[in-house]
Amino acid sequence: MIQVLIVDLGSQYTSLIARAVREQGVRAEILPPQQAGSWLENHKPKAIILSGSYASVRQTDAPEPPQEIFEAGCPILGICYGAQWLVKSFGGDVISSAEKKEYGRTEAAFGEDVIFQDCPGKSVVWASHGDSIGKLPSVFSAIARSGENSQAAAFRAGSFWGVMFHPEVSHTSSGSLILRNFLFHISGCLKDWMPDDIIGGIQKAALDTIGKDARIIIGYSGGVDSSVLAKILLPVFRDRLMGICVNAGNLREGEIDDIKVSAEIIGLNLKIIDAQASLLSALADIIDAEEKRKIFSLVYGQSLQKAVDDFGAAWLLQGTINPDVIETGHSGGAAKIKTHHNPVLEGKFRRYDPLKSYFKDDVRDLARALGLPKYIANKEPFPGPGLIIRVVGCPVTAEKLAIVRWADRQVRMIAQKHNLTNISQLAVILLGVRTVGVKGDERVYGFPVVVRAVETVNFMTAAGYRWPVNVCEEIESALTRHPDIVRVVWDSTPKPPATIEWE
Ligand code: XMP
Repeated sequence: MIQVLIVDLGSQYTSLIARAVREQGVRAEILPPQQAGSWLENHKPKAIILSGSYASVRQTDAPEPPQEIFEAGCPILGICYGAQWLVKSFGGDVISSAEKKEYGRTEAAFGEDVIFQDCPGKSVVWASHGDSIGKLPSVFSAIARSGENSQAAAFRAGSFWGVMFHPEVSHTSSGSLILRNFLFHISGCLKDWMPDDIIGGIQKAALDTIGKDARIIIGYSGGVDSSVLAKILLPVFRDRLMGICVNAGNLREGEIDDIKVSAEIIGLNLKIIDAQASLLSALADIIDAEEKRKIFSLVYGQSLQKAVDDFGAAWLLQGTINPDVIETGHSGGAAKIKTHHNPVLEGKFRRYDPLKSYFKDDVRDLARALGLPKYIANKEPFPGPGLIIRVVGCPVTAEKLAIVRWADRQVRMIAQKHNLTNISQLAVILLGVRTVGVKGDERVYGFPVVVRAVETVNFMTAAGYRWPVNVCEEIESALTRHPDIVRVVWDSTPKPPATIEWE
C-alpha cells in the first residue's frame, strides 16, 4: 500500500521530494493532478504532499491539485507553489512582490508547531519563489517567518500545512526533520522502504516459491531491473541460476558487449542466444505496433523455452516492473496502452516476476543498496522489443534496423560528448515515409529520423527534453551524412499525452 501521494504540479524538485520521503523509509507515489483524482478514488493515503511548480498560482491556467485531496481525510503539506495554492484556495492573497522574492538560502525562525519538533528555533532554509503571501486566509496561522520582511515562511490550518521553502533539498538544514515530523508524527506513516529488508523479503519469497533444488533461467537484458533481480537471487540459487540474453537483431550497437560486462560485474553465468533470423522472418510485412510486439514476444518466448529445456530449468525469472504490468492493462482498472513482452510471455515454464510491484526508481534504489555500480544503477531503460519498435510505419527489415542502429549510435555519442546528463531516455526512430531533400545539388528521396529525449524519474510521466541549439545542429549534420537519411525531426512532447516510445 502506498502511504504518501505526491501531486506533481510541475516542479523540477518533485523527484527530490519522493527521494527525501524514501530516505525517511517511506515509499511515495508521484502523480500529475489529472491522475491524482482517480487514484484517490481507489486509494487511501496517510499523507498528501503538493509539490512546487514552474507556474504561478496567479496565472489563469495554473496547475491545480484535484478536489479529491480534501476528501482523502489525511494531512496535506503544500511545498512552495503547493503552499501558495492552499493559500489561494482558502481565500488568501498570493502576490508578486519584488521585496518578498526569495531565491536560494535564507534564514527562517520556526514557531511552536509539531512540524518543527526537534528543529532549532532558527535555521537555514532554501527557497525559490517569485510569488509570496500577500494575506493569509483567516483560517491559517503563520508558524514560521523568514527574510528581512519577516514574511510567513510556513503556516497551518488544522491538518493542512504550507511551507514556502523546500524541505526536500539538502540546503534546508532542518528539512529532513520537518519531513520526518510530517510523515510520522502528523500523518502516522509506517516505514515501508528499507532496502535491506526488501532484498531479504524477495530472497525468502523466491526460495519459498521455487524451492532449493530447482534450476532457474533469468531473462537478462543488462538493464537495472534484471541486474538487480539477478544480484538479489544469485546468493540464494548460485549456479542453479543462469542468465539468458536473446539477441534478436533488435539491439543497439555495442549492446551485447555491454550486457556481457554487466553480467560479469554481477557474477551471473550468461548465455547469448541468436534469434536474428527468426525474428526478421516472423516480422515479414508487419507494420502494426501491437502485432510486432506479439511476434517479438513469441520469438523471445521460443528462444527462452529452448534455453529452459537445455538447462533443465523449471522456472523463468524476469525483471518485470510495475509500469510494464500497468501499461499492458494487467493491473486493476488500468487501460491497455501497449503490450510489454514480459507480462504476457508464455511457455512450458513457470514464470516468476518478483519485482512486479516496484517502480523504476525503487529498483534503482535497490541497485544502490546492493552496491551495484552507477553504470548499472542509473542505466537508461531500453524496451524489450528494442529497435523493432523504433522502425515505424513500414515493415522492419535488416537494412532499416541498420540505419536506425547507426543513427542511434551517432546521437548517443554526441549527447555523451556534450555531457547531457539530464536525459533519462533517448530514442532515435526511423519513419517509414519517404521525403525529398537535396544533397550535393542532387535530389534525394530518403527517410526522416526522429530524435526524442525525455526527462523522467518513474517513466510513467515524462517531460520532453529540450536540446541545446548547437547540439541540435551537430546531430542534424551528423545524421544527414547517412545516404538514406534526409531529415531530422525533434520530438519533445511530454508524456502524457504522448508515450516515450512512438509505438
Ligand atoms: P512508454 O513508451 O510506454 O515507455 O511511455 C515507458 C518505458 O517503457 C519502455 N517500453 C517498453 N519496454 N517493452 C518493454 O520492455 C515494451 O514494449 C515497451 N514499450 C515501452 C520505454 O522504453 C520506456 O522506458
